[in-house]
Amino acid sequence: MEVIIKPDYDAMSVAAAQQIADVLNRKPNAVLGLATGSTPLGVYKELARMHRVEGLDFSRCTSFNLDEYVGLPASHDQSYHYFMRENFFKHVNIPAQNIHVPSGTTSNFPAFCQWYEERIEACGGIDIQLLGIGSDGHIAFNEPTSSLSSRTRLKTLAKQTIDDNARFFEKSEDVPIYAITMGVGTILEADEIVLLANGAGKADAVAQAVEGPVTSMITASALQMHPYTKFYIDGDAAANLKMREYYEWISMKKPGAPRA
Ligand code: PGA
Repeated sequence: MEVIIKPDYDAMSVAAAQQIADVLNRKPNAVLGLATGSTPLGVYKELARMHRVEGLDFSRCTSFNLDEYVGLPASHDQSYHYFMRENFFKHVNIPAQNIHVPSGTTSNFPAFCQWYEERIEACGGIDIQLLGIGSDGHIAFNEPTSSLSSRTRLKTLAKQTIDDNARFFEKSEDVPIYAITMGVGTILEADEIVLLANGAGKADAVAQAVEGPVTSMITASALQMHPYTKFYIDGDAAANLKMREYYEWISMKKPGAPRA
């Protein structure tokens, strides 16, 4: 795991977008794992700019989103289908048939979850997975005590997640209580993982994920077991890291390492 501390949200977003663009340039038919929430908005904005201004091409790529609220139709303005359409898909050229977002309205959740897993595999697996982190340390909707080998399934959201997300809904009672989410095990199979975190509200979760024990209480800590994960964070989210100087030293010296 590599921790990259950037001066602010924009710098963090641009660096993460560049890593995704590098994958696409190397492999135009890459499979992207995408995330929702306020954190990745800057990455989507930068990728859209790269598409518009620099011709970054998404025409052969496939995408899989991490999660969706149960009960919200794709037309609901708080559904993750809607979020992705407004903030990313309508600004780039991923073919509609290559886009996958879990269904929050399927009539058969177990069958849908199994299909989603099989579809990821049939597409060759995820090349690069974008992640945020919840203030309770979750990745996707893998709340505390989620199995670290879990697969795509229905989850009951933690009270803290519902409270965190209430800001997007008119009333806290409107926040869905259930979600369909890729599992920690599903996420760990991605070739590369990019986790983003900004703001003081994420400082504890980041410190526990990076420097704490691997535990299902902080599902992001499972990323310590992944061979190629980068955390891009801002100074506020880095505030509780004990080894901050060490990460800054590595970031400074690593580019000079022999390459071949
Ligand atoms: P946020 O959510 O980006 O809106 O803070 C992150 C998450 O819960 O994964």
